[in-house]
Amino acid sequence: MDVNQALRERRSVRAFTEQVPQVELVQRLMQDAAQAASGGNMQPWRVAAITGAPLAAMLADVAQAPGEENPQYLSYPPNLWEPYRTRRFANGEELYQSINIPREDKAGRLQQLAKNARFFGAPVGLIMFTEQRMGPVQWMDLGIYLQSFMLRATEEGLATCPQGFWRRYDSVIKQHIEVPEGYLVAFGIALGYEDKTAPINTMRATRAEFSEWGQLKGF
Ligand SMILES: Cc1cc2nc3c(=O)[nH]c(=O)nc-3n(C[C@H](O)[C@H](O)[C@H](O)COP(=O)(O)O)c2cc1C
Repeated sequence: MDVNQALRERRSVRAFTEQVPQVELVQRLMQDAAQAASGGNMQPWRVAAITGAPLAAMLADVAQAPGEENPQYLSYPPNLWEPYRTRRFANGEELYQSINIPREDKAGRLQQLAKNARFFGAPVGLIMFTEQRMGPVQWMDLGIYLQSFMLRATEEGLATCPQGFWRRYDSVIKQHIEVPEGYLVAFGIALGYEDKTAPINTMRATRAEFSEWGQLKGF
């Protein structure tokens, strides 16, 4: 598989088989992703992979916790404007269409959303932390790590779903995964093997046309 193939094949997978990836493979992916570029080579990430009993214990506590968005790290800016508002809306519609949940079925949509809190059934969850005092430019480095990790996972036949959702459970997670003072949860990654029979995994998120965001000058 070449990079372009990995780019095309990677997508967010939201149902997994029970097969647990080998620990050596998980560690290799984590280390390979750390080849990511970062400003000043600061490598401002800390990453934990968790499975088995420790994962079950963490998810049990998450299930009991209210979970709350940190207003300093909202997933989306409030009052989203165009074209982002429409794109985000379309993304939700595509997702729920794949599992036949209509707009009126609020309970059904919430049930699907709640699967975030179980890493969508993935046997491995990764949590990525960074220091609270890091700025938005270092968060860009985290994104480069994230994409590198997901592409390597794709190359190894694994599936992933990045999850900003986990920021809601910062304090619960830190009761289960030790990190030095001052770190916070940036996002999580569900990791495992795709359940190819699951309707939700048929979803393909569309992309905006090049003309909406790209320009070429002077060629
Ligand atoms: C930083 C980040 C956070 C995300 N958080 C979530 C999440 O909490 N839950 C979820 O189901 N998908 C999440 N996603 C997945 C996006 O919805 C997905 O990447 C987008 O719809 C494009 O689809 P694709 O990844 O299948 O290409 C996140 C993606 C990124 C990059």
